Amino acid sequence: VITRFITATGTGLGKTLVTAALCHQLRRMGRTVRALKPLVTGFDETSWADSDPAVLLKGLGKWPSFETPAAQASRRMGEDLDSIAPFRFAAPLAPSMAAAQEGRAVDLDAVVGFCRAAMAGPDEVLLIEGVGGVMAPLAAGITVLDWIKALACPAILVTGSYLGSLSHSLTALAVLRAAAVPLAGVVVSESADSTVSLEDTVAELMTWTDAPILALPRLTGPEPWQNAPPLTRLA
Ligand SMILES: Nc1ncnc2c1ncn2[C@@H]1O[C@H](COP(=O)(O)OP(=O)(O)OP(=O)(O)O)[C@@H](O)[C@H]1O
Ligand SMILES: [Mg+2]
Repeated sequence: VITRFITATGTGLGKTLVTAALCHQLRRMGRTVRALKPLVTGFDETSWADSDPAVLLKGLGKWPSFETPAAQASRRMGEDLDSIAPFRFAAPLAPSMAAAQEGRAVDLDAVVGFCRAAMAGPDEVLLIEGVGGVMAPLAAGITVLDWIKALACPAILVTGSYLGSLSHSLTALAVLRAAAVPLAGVVVSESADSTVSLEDTVAELMTWTDAPILALPRLTGPEPWQNAPPLTRLA
């Protein structure tokens, strides 16, 4: 199974968008794909039509568009949600803090075990969306980086084009390199109202790494992942 861990320099930069776009594009090429968002924070169990797991289900074509969100939510709550995102927390915080608010803790071994089971197949490609950035805290002394290292799979780094993003990107790349995480590539997702050119940001990053650097322009529409340029060379 070709496995990719989709991480980012921070939260809200485009991990879910990139993962859903890859699901959509790989399926159109005839490849079988599974996508996971094992750890979700800020999750509302009663209304999750716009949540990360829901967007991934849409990218996988498993969320029929003719159903109302309410009907989808009630029908799919048990089956699909648990198979894509079993570790869910309500507070919109880093996982360690969101778990603490519920008197719980993130169990990295359980998260890794869930991912490893999917890495055994049967799908050709497995996309695992992380949570927050490369070093978002999961539990005491444990960050997303430990999760990536435990899986020993290549990472896709999603970053932005906002002023200051280069330092964030190079910091994340240095941390991944120091941990010997293979880099499948970088996606620069154009930041809203950015004062910096997307193309110039991509060109600059290319001088810092040999990995593929892909530009993802600002997309529009209710399901922007459908309109993404080809990203499949990353998987
Ligand atoms: N290139 C882009 N064009 C248009 N919209 C974008 C782009 N990149 C990100 N967005 C939008 O920004 C929002 C945040 O993106 P997304 O949910 O993919 O980030 P994320 O990294 O998965 O965040 P989280 O850390 O919460 O999982 C979404 O509404 C997404 O559609
Ligand atoms: Mg996301």
